[in-house]
Amino acid sequence: MSDRLSLRVVRREPLAGRIVALTLASADGNALPPFEAGAHIDVLTPSGHTRQYSLCNAPDTATQVYRIAVQEEAESRGGSRAMCRDVREGDLLEVGAPRNLFPLAPGTRRAILLAGGIGITPLLAMAHALHQAGIDFVLHHACRSRPAGAFVEELLAASFAERVRLHFDDEGPALDLAGVLADPCDGDHLYVCGPSGFIQWALDTARQLHWPDGQVHREFFAPAEPAVVAADGAFEVELAVSGKVLQVPADRSIASVLLAHGVPLAMSCEQGVCGTCVTTLLAGEADHRDSYLTDADRERGDTILPCCSRARSARLVLDL
Ligand code: FES
Repeated sequence: MSDRLSLRVVRREPLAGRIVALTLASADGNALPPFEAGAHIDVLTPSGHTRQYSLCNAPDTATQVYRIAVQEEAESRGGSRAMCRDVREGDLLEVGAPRNLFPLAPGTRRAILLAGGIGITPLLAMAHALHQAGIDFVLHHACRSRPAGAFVEELLAASFAERVRLHFDDEGPALDLAGVLADPCDGDHLYVCGPSGFIQWALDTARQLHWPDGQVHREFFAPAEPAVVAADGAFEVELAVSGKVLQVPADRSIASVLLAHGVPLAMSCEQGVCGTCVTTLLAGEADHRDSYLTDADRERGDTILPCCSRARSARLVLDL
């Protein structure tokens, strides 16, 4: 985690279901590094895991607080459970400075924000930013039920409430995605965040309706597929800078082999979601296991995420 900040939890709000919102402020009262809509912070959780959480408050150049929302995952490996159950007001948390891998595209004339469940968090910050900038947008928030929906009351009371459309699985109206995404124009941009199935549905629908790839933006919260497959094979990794060749056994990731040999590699999520470890691939064919690279990235074949991806060829040559 780079540019670490030690932040105090100044507010803890149970939001809905298993979701808790945490407001973080500088322990010494100073302003925080500014952020743009779509940005996230890495948080060192009490369980020792580093997790990424989108900032959901309105971006502001004089940022005093970061607000995040955490959903306790049923399959939690410890990170979200510790954040929801163990963190109290007054606690200090180590966090990284904001990074934005899901920015609003310059030239957005109309934005469609599609949130599935807890995926609302970056889109909430985007809604604030678009509203402040006077840019046309609609925010669709799809939730299992009203009691399980994060930020429902807040959205209904927001200054942009007339742009919010809520969809509850158990009461309707159902989200008519084909209707929402019909007839894309130049300057229209789609931003989608939520569970992998929801995102895939949105991406598939957008493709069928002829949305250009460059106008579709998404952020995964969890890997779209299991990052490790039982039948993995061994392969070699060549480091172009030093010429070293390392063996990657079937039961190890490229990243773990690199780190074991002292090759520095920035990592955060370690599950192919955040993009921190993206590395230039000079030769060889990757077996992409991440949820971060786009189809266009994969077709170009010049990048790989060593925390989870593997090789289809006997050797990969990395620009390391
Ligand atoms: S560390 Fe997050 S994608 Fe590799």
